[in-house]
Amino acid sequence: MEIGQVIGATTLRGFRFVITEGMEKYVKRDEFVSVKESVTNMDILGVIKEITISNELLPDEFGRDLRLGDILLTEGEYPVPTVKILGYVYENGIELPRYGIKPGAIVNLADDAMLEDILRQDDKKSAFIGTISTRNTVPVHVSINDLISRHCAVLAMTGAGKSYTIGVIIEELLKKKGSVIVFDPHGEYKNIKFMNSKTVVYGIKGERKIKIEAHSLRSGDFANLIPDITDPQRDLLEEVLGIASKFYEKYDLKVIIRILNIMYDKKEGKDIQTDIFPETGIKDVIKKVGLSTIGALIRRIERLNRMGIFDMEGTELGDIVVRNQLTVIDLSDADERVAETVVATIGRRIFEGRKMYVREGDGNLKIPTFIIIEEAHNFAPRSVEDRPILSRNVLKKIAREGRKFGVGICIVSQRPNKLDADVLSQCNTQIIMKIVNPSDQEYIRQSVETVTEDIVRDLPSLSRGEAIIVGSAVRLPVTVKIRKRTTEVSGDDIDIVGEWNK
Ligand SMILES: Nc1ncnc2c1ncn2[C@@H]1O[C@H](COP(=O)(O)OP(=O)(O)OP(=O)(O)O)[C@@H](O)[C@H]1O
Ligand SMILES: [Mg+2]
Repeated sequence: MEIGQVIGATTLRGFRFVITEGMEKYVKRDEFVSVKESVTNMDILGVIKEITISNELLPDEFGRDLRLGDILLTEGEYPVPTVKILGYVYENGIELPRYGIKPGAIVNLADDAMLEDILRQDDKKSAFIGTISTRNTVPVHVSINDLISRHCAVLAMTGAGKSYTIGVIIEELLKKKGSVIVFDPHGEYKNIKFMNSKTVVYGIKGERKIKIEAHSLRSGDFANLIPDITDPQRDLLEEVLGIASKFYEKYDLKVIIRILNIMYDKKEGKDIQTDIFPETGIKDVIKKVGLSTIGALIRRIERLNRMGIFDMEGTELGDIVVRNQLTVIDLSDADERVAETVVATIGRRIFEGRKMYVREGDGNLKIPTFIIIEEAHNFAPRSVEDRPILSRNVLKKIAREGRKFGVGICIVSQRPNKLDADVLSQCNTQIIMKIVNPSDQEYIRQSVETVTEDIVRDLPSLSRGEAIIVGSAVRLPVTVKIRKRTTEVSGDDIDIVGEWNK
């Protein structure tokens, strides 16, 4: 359908056009148009990015003294849309044109079939996440293989629809019998129910607790978990961990407490017999520490132990990475330090487990998996804090090397500029929703290659449930209206005034 004609000078990146009379209603932001290339006569796809309306009867120079009266203004008015060239369809992808576009060329509305062709992906391997925002007739699919092996990020201000979109992605992955794990700081995902797939929830409290193998924690990790630990206590703990790992292949916190209790009794001068292990190490250690230090450390380790998540063995990974299963790790009862430790230890074990399986065929992590991290700025923060952030290192490693072992991550955040730049730049597909904060916009533009200036400019005008998708999982950067979910949604806004009036 013809909607206009190219005017002015054109470039390989864009052109402007005048609108054919009566076609104004089709000319809107983000609408797709096509135009013939001059030499090859191929159809080039473009997208309307700007519409300037000027009126020769009302030039800028008119001052505020102007009285419009009865002048018929429509006579002198002409809107000029600016089109950004996307390229032509080429082997199922899209390539930038090599020749120019002639002024005077006819501009057509790109037809649905052309757009569908470009956006089409193998049905069996793609996720249907919505429709083009200007055309509810053209579906948008993302490649699941790309999404997972090259990681993705869902970024937007609060309330823009990140979690809703994640819900849609989870639905699609489970339709493909996928294995998905969500680290869920707000407990938003635990009630999702599927017709044909399972949801398994682990928590910090309650019946099915997530377990962390205590012997994998170094003294720095303990220090992280016990913010009020003193330096002498930390030194002592280091010695105790050394003794424990010398005599046991695996141990839990009870073992640590037992060693400390023996130390305490010895220090007090009690003549206790210990058959646990030769006491060589212990004698030397207790010479250096005071009784109160031992006592205080015992109390702190006991406090950790009472949480009931540190154990001899970590949660069986074969129960977490399961085909056709959403595994929710509900962190809503965990303080931030504990949450970090859970993300780090589970993330690391999955990565190592998959590495072992892919390289040596060992272990029970036989299938690839997708790990979603909500509030990712807490687990992979950019700031250089004075404490080591274990989860950040793990997420960095997965972002860098996960592709080889079939471990994908999806980071979700409403504070993009608080995210670690390495992790963010390794996410090759970006689903970006409304963002108005300029520093968040700027940070995304700097960190992610595929996010260009004109994409950033559009971010504030997106509405709830609308997203710009760029990167390796889509053929074309598109603005998408995210589809409706088929599973139940939590995290709805509270009707505050309504509740007050009840
Ligand atoms: N595509 C959509 N269609 C319909 N409703 C939506 C859509 N996206 C989001 N919503 C609704 O908008 C509200 C906020 O969405 P959501 O909880 O996903 O935001 P969020 O970006 O995750 O916010 P936060 O940063 O606070 O976690 C919810 O009530 C949700 O149901
Ligand atoms: Mg959310």
